[in-house]
This record gives sequence, C-alpha cells and structure tokens, in this order.
Amino acid sequence: MTQLQTAAELPPAYLATLNQLNLNPLWPSLRAFLPEGEPTGASVATHWRYNDVRPLLMQAGELTPIEKAERRVLVLCNPGLGLEKLQATPSIYVGMQLILPGEDAPNHRHTPSAIRLVVEGSGGYTTVEGEKLPMEHGDLILTPPGLWHEHGHEGDGPVVWLDALDLPLIYLLEHSFADAAPLQQAKTAPDASETRFTRAGLVPYDELDSSAPYPMRRYPWKDTRNALLALAGQTGRDKPIHLAYINPLSGEACLPFLGFSALMLRPGETLRLPRRSCSQVLHVVEGTGTTTANDTTFSWADADVSALPAHSRVTITNGSSKKPAFLFIVDDAPLHKKLRIYMEREW
Ligand SMILES: [Fe+2]
Repeated sequence: MTQLQTAAELPPAYLATLNQLNLNPLWPSLRAFLPEGEPTGASVATHWRYNDVRPLLMQAGELTPIEKAERRVLVLCNPGLGLEKLQATPSIYVGMQLILPGEDAPNHRHTPSAIRLVVEGSGGYTTVEGEKLPMEHGDLILTPPGLWHEHGHEGDGPVVWLDALDLPLIYLLEHSFADAAPLQQAKTAPDASETRFTRAGLVPYDELDSSAPYPMRRYPWKDTRNALLALAGQTGRDKPIHLAYINPLSGEACLPFLGFSALMLRPGETLRLPRRSCSQVLHVVEGTGTTTANDTTFSWADADVSALPAHSRVTITNGSSKKPAFLFIVDDAPLHKKLRIYMEREW
C-alpha cells in the first residue's frame, strides 16, 4: 500500500489555516478510518462478575433513594472505550438495575430502545403502554422506542434486572431524549400481548395481516428454557441449540437495531461461534463455564456478563459435565443487516 503523507510532513502554517476554517486533510487519517483488510476498534473483551456487581448495587439501594435516581443502575462500561461513554460495546449499553419493594421507577418514554432481562427476585413488573408485564427470573421484557414505560415492585427482597439499550447509537445520532409523565393507568389485561402470542405458529386471527411493530412485549424464561430443551432433543450434536427472539407477526428481530437470542450449552459442550461482524453481550442465565474471545479468557457463573467486540473469535465451554448452561445474548446484528454490512468471516 502507498505510504501516505503524515500531518507532520505538512507545513504547520498550512494546517493551522485549514483548522481555522474547520477543514482537515483526509490523507493523514485515511488509514485510521479505513484500515486495509481488517477493521480496528478500541473496545476490549470485558467481563463483569455478578458477585462483584451485586454488593455495590445493593449499596446503591442504601445510598440513593429511587426518587433521587429515577433509575438505580450501575452501568457496565467497556474500559477500551472509556468509562464515561457508558458503552459495553460501541452500540450496546448494558446496566444492572435495582428496584426495592414498594418502589416505583417513574413513567417515561425515550428514543433509545430497551430490554430488561430479569436477573434475580420476584414481584417486579414493568408497565408498557398500560400493559402490566410480570418480571420473573430470565424473562425478557421489551420497552420499544417511544413507548411509555415504568417499573414497580410488589414482592419482597430486591429485584435486579439487566438493561440493554441501543443508547450509544441513538446518542451518536444526537437523537437521544426522554419525556416524563404520571404513572400509567391499565389499558389491557396484565401480560395481554404475551398471552395473545402463547404458541409459535398461532396468532390471533385479527392480527393476521397486521404489521404491528411490537405485538409481544414479554418473553417468559420458562417457555424459552423449555423450548431450548425441546430443540436439544431434535438437534444433532454438531449443531448449536440457539433460539432467536422475534416479532411473532413479522418474523424479524423484535427491536430495530439490537438482536436477542438464547443459547443452551449441552453438559460439557464447547462451542466455537461464527466470527461475526456484530458486537455482542453475553449474560449467564444459568450455569458455569468459560468464554475465550480472541486472546482473553473469562470464567463465568450465574448472572455474569461479558462484552465481546465485533469480529471476535469466540469459544464458549459449559463447565459442568452434568447440567446444561443457558446464555442470553444481545447483539447489534439487526443493525448490521439493515445497513447491509453484516458478515461472518473466516476464523
Ligand atoms: Fe426507560
């Protein structure tokens, strides 16, 4: 490749004049923005142990009343990108949120899309556009862009969930903002959207030609887990046991930019994932094991989270020879596909 001229090789007075006029020469930066053959990135494979996060989150519960926090969240920040950026990967924000019995996290709506994946506790709920959605361990709850949502807790003990948002992307677009409103009134029966889409292959007849963007808002973990176990019985050992969460009407990803899936590892199984262009975040719903991303290896246990950069070479091993392990995965593959840049590359 041609060796391009550096900024230091240009007369300082010329550069100063350019900069005064809000101009820059491209050629000294061209290789940084368009590297040859392989992309470069600042994010690094990072792992958060729930055993480290949990006590600090409980401490936040003592230090900060919900009224002073609105959302009581510790954000999982990728050190390669800078902690102040609040990014697990360049496009994915991930936080651990705590709500205590009797608390309300007030009603709001915003331009970023969000999901909640329940980590521990019982009795929490999220109300989305007047629909009250129970939150039990492992449940996936959607709070799509522009829809009013609030959280509450009617049980005992702490409730913790994982938040994942496309916030970094919407913030980059300078389009990130929220509106606030009083707590919502019920508009439908609790959990109505999930009840209307109870079984794959069956949709309410009046939805047959519907293109509702977010028809189902809660995906109960007990159903996902059972579906993974059933799929395992129908899947040869040379194939992974992997289910995607989708919009049951369109068959597409359930939110615009982020994709969600559940992966089961058979006892003792080691999986080499495709080397995908998207970045991803792995959350342990159940089990123990190890993940290697490029040259970095993490050991994981229940409720841990790992952030894996785009184009990573990822190998995952279930540490138990007796029990399956279950992972919830967030990625930005839907965004890549919409932009027509998604790819799977050679290892
Ligand atoms: Fe929100």
